[in-house]
Amino acid sequence: MTDDTAADRLTELAKRRGFFFRSSEAYGGVSGFYVYGPEGATLKENLEDAWRDRFVRREGHMEIEAPNVMPEPVFEASGHLDGFDDMIVECPECGASHRADHIVEDNTDIEEAESIAITDIEEIVAENDVVCPSCGTELAGEPVEDFNLMFETTIGPGSSSPGYLRPETAQGIFVEFPRLKEYARGQLPFGVAQIGAAYRNEISPRKGLVRLREFAQAELEHFVDPETDDPDLESVADVEVTLYSEAQQDDEDGEPVELTVQEAVEAGVVGSDWVAYYLGVAQGWYERIGVDMDRFRFRQHRSGELAHYAADCWDAEADTSAPGADPDWIEITGFAYRGDYDLTKHGEYADDDFTIFKQYDDPITVERATVDPEMSYLGPEFGGDAAAVGEALEDLAERDRTAFDDDTVTVDVDGDEYAVPVEKTGFSIEEVTEAGEHVTPHVVEPSFGVDRLVYTVLAHTLERDDAGEDADEDRTVLTLPPELAPTTVAVFPLMDKDGLGERAGEVAERLRQAGFEVAEDASGSIGRRYRRQDEVGTPYCVTVDYDTLEDGTVTVRDRDTTAQARVPVDDLPGVVADLRAGETTIGDL
Ligand code: GAP
Repeated sequence: MTDDTAADRLTELAKRRGFFFRSSEAYGGVSGFYVYGPEGATLKENLEDAWRDRFVRREGHMEIEAPNVMPEPVFEASGHLDGFDDMIVECPECGASHRADHIVEDNTDIEEAESIAITDIEEIVAENDVVCPSCGTELAGEPVEDFNLMFETTIGPGSSSPGYLRPETAQGIFVEFPRLKEYARGQLPFGVAQIGAAYRNEISPRKGLVRLREFAQAELEHFVDPETDDPDLESVADVEVTLYSEAQQDDEDGEPVELTVQEAVEAGVVGSDWVAYYLGVAQGWYERIGVDMDRFRFRQHRSGELAHYAADCWDAEADTSAPGADPDWIEITGFAYRGDYDLTKHGEYADDDFTIFKQYDDPITVERATVDPEMSYLGPEFGGDAAAVGEALEDLAERDRTAFDDDTVTVDVDGDEYAVPVEKTGFSIEEVTEAGEHVTPHVVEPSFGVDRLVYTVLAHTLERDDAGEDADEDRTVLTLPPELAPTTVAVFPLMDKDGLGERAGEVAERLRQAGFEVAEDASGSIGRRYRRQDEVGTPYCVTVDYDTLEDGTVTVRDRDTTAQARVPVDDLPGVVADLRAGETTIGDL
């Protein structure tokens, strides 16, 4: 099967059965915006719940929900206004815009063109006779430019207050840090998570859910003290991960390697213990949600590829091509070590405290150099600059007390030098007792793209099987983990007569009241009804037949093995719960 047919099959199924489809099609559709249908919305919600369970609840972190629109100064501080760009090239003939690095990757052997400088990209386009993917016109000589990906809006009437749709949910957490740290009682480490929409005005949205203009992120910002806080590496030490490091990518014969998390840390392949910890945790979680780990790797960012805030970053990548076709790796999660970049920046730009006060075990006594300038001298001597000279003296005393060793001290105010007699500065050295210090936490960030995860899970669990119960028909099955399946159990009357329909309705209602997502289907043959449920990944089907009326039992059928067992209706909620939790199998029954 070619890559295209795999993607096309998924897209066809997604649209026909209500997983996802392009939005606003009644008005011609709009690229990069998708709707989740009834099946897809529940699948996405279940996936988010599984994420919440692993990365919030089990880690003991908190979750918040911040607005999607944020004012311009936030993005001045975060660096997105200046640095959140992709490379764009416009076709001189048809006017279509393209992502220059992507068309270079599509037309050359280069795999990660994002890290290449714009001028080099222009040369590569010219040397390789790259043409416009829309109309075939040569793009040699066309300028490649930076294009900022943020959607701009105005807050309130008029244009005096520009705002932006957040390009990452993370900023909604960083900006609220001064308050969030209070909820953590001022103690590091603590983590804050958020699941929500992010917006990027992508130049070329593509492949359904893979490159959207509005998408969902599940992000965790874990605030740590780099000096004293360590992750629980032992809990993931033996987890095996596939790592494709920068060195291996640079080596012509380089291949990803399999290491345990502990080996990766000891060998220095993953430089940050915190990042290594989250790679280990995430590995188990991807398995849990149905990612095929034979088509999965962690790939380190090359230095030119790193986001403006990241000191190190590993991406989780999944190959979503059909087995046997050329690999099509998509980034599903970024694990970044953001250092103190974000909190330092917001501390500089905003009027609040983005540090944590770290109390010492015992107070310490330190010498502090202070000044108390004689303004009756500075005023007449320096006029309007006297206050600034006073502040410069204070700064200098903190930075370099030896500057006050001579009779005169010289300070710089906006490029002008001012000499002040030391006796007029009130310079002194005092002993002070300090209870602690202000530290700017570092941030470790696992950032999951929810839509790409949904896409990957669908691509990896979509199977065709022609040896099912009805050999005449292909069986399309989504082998979704029961935890994620939009419907847990479907209930069928064998026939819609003799009271079987009513009895099936009662059974379905009983299961609903027990908290399961339940579907009912009375149309067509039982085989057809199984097929319909297999296609949307329903793990269990229950059939109500004439024996049910006699002895109160039903047939439960398992999606993956097609095995069946007879179960009393009274036991059904408990049995389905055990099956769903993996505590029993149809075989055991
Ligand atoms: N806060 C860090 C951050 O935003 P990112 O690597 O730019 O990092 C994180 O994004 C994840 O969001 C990616 O790994 C990807 O799964 C998802 N993502 C990014 N851009 C996307 C897009 N245009 N459409 C769908 N998902 C996207």
